[in-house]
Amino acid sequence: MSVPTIESGISIDLIDTPCLIVDMDLVDKNLNTLFSKFRERKVNVRPHLKTVKSPEFAKLLLAAGARGVCVAKVAEAEVMAEAGIEDILITTEIIGRPKLERLTRLISKHPEVKVVVDSILGVEAMQEAASNANVKLNVLIELNVGQNRAGVEPGEPALKVANEITKQGNLNFLGVQGYEGHVQLLTDESERKRLCCEAMEKLMSTVALLRENGHSIPVITTGGTGTSEYCADAGATELQPGSFIFMDGAYNRAIGNRYETALTLVSTIISKPAKNRCVIDAGFKSLSTDSGNAQLKAFPDISYRPAGDEHGILESSTESIALNIGDRVELIPSHIDTTVNLHDYYYCHRSGKIENVWRLEARGKVQ
Ligand SMILES: Cc1ncc(COP(=O)(O)O)c(C=O)c1O
Repeated sequence: MSVPTIESGISIDLIDTPCLIVDMDLVDKNLNTLFSKFRERKVNVRPHLKTVKSPEFAKLLLAAGARGVCVAKVAEAEVMAEAGIEDILITTEIIGRPKLERLTRLISKHPEVKVVVDSILGVEAMQEAASNANVKLNVLIELNVGQNRAGVEPGEPALKVANEITKQGNLNFLGVQGYEGHVQLLTDESERKRLCCEAMEKLMSTVALLRENGHSIPVITTGGTGTSEYCADAGATELQPGSFIFMDGAYNRAIGNRYETALTLVSTIISKPAKNRCVIDAGFKSLSTDSGNAQLKAFPDISYRPAGDEHGILESSTESIALNIGDRVELIPSHIDTTVNLHDYYYCHRSGKIENVWRLEARGKVQ
């Protein structure tokens, strides 16, 4: 699929809707806010690309100071490796022969790709796949630090997995990954910090146990947009924030204006059936709803709700809406990762003038 030919410098008002527009001045500001903070503290940042899903944005993150990147899936890693990015951590367990074979094929060309594992079964399957393909896999243990998603339990269960990894001829043990996803979006900052510190205690005490038992742990990787500062304080060697580059409604509610809302969706009013109700061309297929509904950027009194795959409703319960058919509105997605996954292109602009159109090469790469 080719990128639409859009002359640089044209106004974003001329781009067809619904479309994702990215204010690159605000992206620059977000990159500067995050990287200057952690550069001073000498902790590495390995941003999670499950937000941007684009090699161009990945390269921007690396140029800003990222030391490697994270992805969630082997298919995403393939896209990034193809684009020339070598140091990639896949943060989800890789299970099943088709995926393991795909992984070892990728690693035979890109040996810096790293993976996580959280079970003895997983270790054995990785060893078998790596040995069959005659490659070495760089492996981290994923710990459950409280999210109760994947991850081996801290302490002795993690030690058993570490002992198993170091017995294998084709696995190279690099360290541990925690991810305190259960606290990222808590709106009470002191509670977010308290629960993150509890999670970091589980991570760091397990690191201590592994080290006491002779394991070298060069990498302790964790942290998201809502917790990275606390993870750095606790001793993480690298941080994995993703959403900070664009932000979204859920993160705005949780951490306020620490970072700028750099990405919005532009939509057109296609019908105005009542004076207090308009219909726009953005429904479930344009804006994800797993974190609630998107919000209108400039009209806080007007609510948005999806009204089908391709329709959305703007409504004011009190007054008539001062917008008409053909007008364009900007919406702030409630959850950036799942919204971005619905689109083909980013329309990147500065002060409303298009600078670049970047394809979302890794959208839909769920395998
Ligand atoms: C393992 C892992 N690390 C980091 C992140 C990035 O977090 P955020 O987008 O909240 O900054 C995620 C997000 O889901 C994740 O699953």
